[in-house]
Amino acid sequence: MKIILLGAPGAGKGTVAKVLTELDGSVQISTGDILRGAVQAGTELGKKADAFMKAGDLVPDELIMDIMKSRLQEPDCKKGFLLDGFPRTIPQAEALKTLLSDLGLTLDMAVSLEVPCEEILNRLTTRRTCENSACQAIYNVRSSPTKIEGICDKCGSKVVQREDETEEAISRRLETYNEKTAPLIGYYKEEGLLMPVEATVTDEVVKAIQDRLKS
Ligand code: AP5
Repeated sequence: MKIILLGAPGAGKGTVAKVLTELDGSVQISTGDILRGAVQAGTELGKKADAFMKAGDLVPDELIMDIMKSRLQEPDCKKGFLLDGFPRTIPQAEALKTLLSDLGLTLDMAVSLEVPCEEILNRLTTRRTCENSACQAIYNVRSSPTKIEGICDKCGSKVVQREDETEEAISRRLETYNEKTAPLIGYYKEEGLLMPVEATVTDEVVKAIQDRLKS
């Protein structure tokens, strides 16, 4: 599959992507995970991205496109990919369209995960993420806790709250989403690729995507 997962912060893009990759070997490409890994490793990219991320602002389009141009050409993308958190702006969507056309690739669809606002806030304040940048497994103290409190089930590292999970950063991320990313819903509708899906139950989202891919 070659799909884009759209949705507000906390809508469940990462959670759905992880389930889908296990089904058919497609690779999850999360720009957020890539950037957090770079910040943790202290690379040039990480140094440039850090302040934007902590504040809940978007990282500049040029940096993101540099990442995506090389990432989409890696061999593991041949089986398919799920774009989680990218594109995030109309210029990124336009650049992606050109890039995919240059690579001879076609998107199956852009899935828009729709979750009520109060549920989003609940999820973001109760999420926990594995601090190991090679893992970054997602948990939730309410809906999907770790088996041992504070320890990742998959790799045994500590699970923590992300640095952009302060009340201030969450509210800035939601504002940024409404202003810069929500317009992509109209963009992909025009492109004939939009699949809106009510995203309160992960298994139902996964099934709806699988059914659409089969049809
Ligand atoms: P990024 O990491 O992409 O963050 P985001 O879009 O804000 O999305 P989240 O990771 O917060 O949420 P999610 O939708 O993946 O939800 P999750 O599955 O974790 O980006 C972070 C930052 O990086 C940005 O602010 C920006 O600075 C920068 N950045 C990244 N990409 C960029 C780009 N393209 N351009 C510019 N800047 C960029 O789920 C949330 C919680 O809910 C979890 O606890 C989960 O367990 C729980 N949950 C999920 N589904 C359910 C369910 N069905 N029922 C109950 N609980 C659920």
